[in-house]
Amino acid sequence: MKTVNAIKQLNGTIEVPGDKSISHRAIMFGALANGQTTIEHFSHGEDCLSTIAVFRQLGVAIDVSSDKITVHGTGIESLKQPSTILDVGNSGTTIRLMMGILAGRPFESRLTGDASIQKRPMNRVITPLKTMSAAISAQEGGLAPVTVSAVEAITGINYDMPVASAQVKSALLFAGMQSDDVTIINEKEKSRDHTERMLQQFGGEITIDGLSISITKQPPLQGQNIYVPGDISSAAFFLVAASLLAGSKVTLKNVGMNPTRTGIIDVLRDMGAAIAETSQPTTGEPLSDLTVSAAPLKATEIGGSLIPRLIDELPIIALLATQAEGTTVIKDAEELKVKETNRIDTVAEELTKMGADITATPDGLIIKGPTALHGATVSSHGDHRIGMMLAVAGFIASSPVELEDAEAIAVSYPNFFEHVEQLSK
Ligand code: S3P
Repeated sequence: MKTVNAIKQLNGTIEVPGDKSISHRAIMFGALANGQTTIEHFSHGEDCLSTIAVFRQLGVAIDVSSDKITVHGTGIESLKQPSTILDVGNSGTTIRLMMGILAGRPFESRLTGDASIQKRPMNRVITPLKTMSAAISAQEGGLAPVTVSAVEAITGINYDMPVASAQVKSALLFAGMQSDDVTIINEKEKSRDHTERMLQQFGGEITIDGLSISITKQPPLQGQNIYVPGDISSAAFFLVAASLLAGSKVTLKNVGMNPTRTGIIDVLRDMGAAIAETSQPTTGEPLSDLTVSAAPLKATEIGGSLIPRLIDELPIIALLATQAEGTTVIKDAEELKVKETNRIDTVAEELTKMGADITATPDGLIIKGPTALHGATVSSHGDHRIGMMLAVAGFIASSPVELEDAEAIAVSYPNFFEHVEQLSK
């Protein structure tokens, strides 16, 4: 149990952890490439450490230090059969992308994860991978543990994705790049494109035409030096906290500004937030320093193609909406139900305990504001983003918040409370 007290204001400069999605992919491409890959500003959250552990079990040498990761890649062909089940911990990105990578390998492997992972839908990846001739079996209802067996060859697919999901897209790209056939993936809405960008950075070939992506067997990939931008999904908690606490001014250095991820900035500005942006030099994905100051906020409507661009930020946006003037409507966000928790339910349930006027709907949330929040005993439900959202709720509440399962925050932001302390001194 962690007690979270109110904070007067936040001031200063921090660098949030490296982007989780990009860190996973840097390990993956580094492991599949030939030669050394170095990764700076890697996310040391538990999820990305799970990806490292999985590749070590597949025979890849990876050196970890606090400032740099070195992956000694010897090509996809040299991945070895693991001697035990691969444990992805809490990481949906790891289990789903690994299924795509392992689908084309000539050995059998098994993947599992924690209690949350064992409840999350895997058929969204397994079904199209099977159409590509992969041999994957799961527990009833398409749940982990899953077993990926060797097949003669992966075949191509022309697939219209039923959900906007970068994890599904990426799994199919990893399988497609092991096939002699062409694979075409048609997205419903554009989801984060880190896999497509990083493949090209490693010397791979992919064709992107609007929402349609095609891929086939790749030339040998070459190890790279990667700098991982700050995670905008982690920055989001401080963008919101500083917007809400009068007198605050916080600078977040080197935050990733990939347009498939910046929906939070668009929404915050639309609600009246004061965010200044200074772009920074980069050899990879776009990055900026962001300076945010407290400002009065008004309600907004969020739906459609904006949803995949801020899906992970919706819990903290819901908290922000409790402090904004008017009724905020979040719709088209059914995907929230299959995240680390059912985030429609956990957000509504926990914020209601603190006095928020928030209603769960089948595809989102309706939030009336502004409402004063009071302290309560709340729970992260083991979900890192729910944990951080409730901590920020504690910063603005009239009495202390008792946060159960606060340890979950280490999944993506192990030094979250250190940064809070630094900015609130
Ligand atoms: C991720 C994609 C998103 C996101 C998740 C990370 C990724 O999930 O919610 O936190 O790294 O590809 P979906 O692709 O399932 O929407």
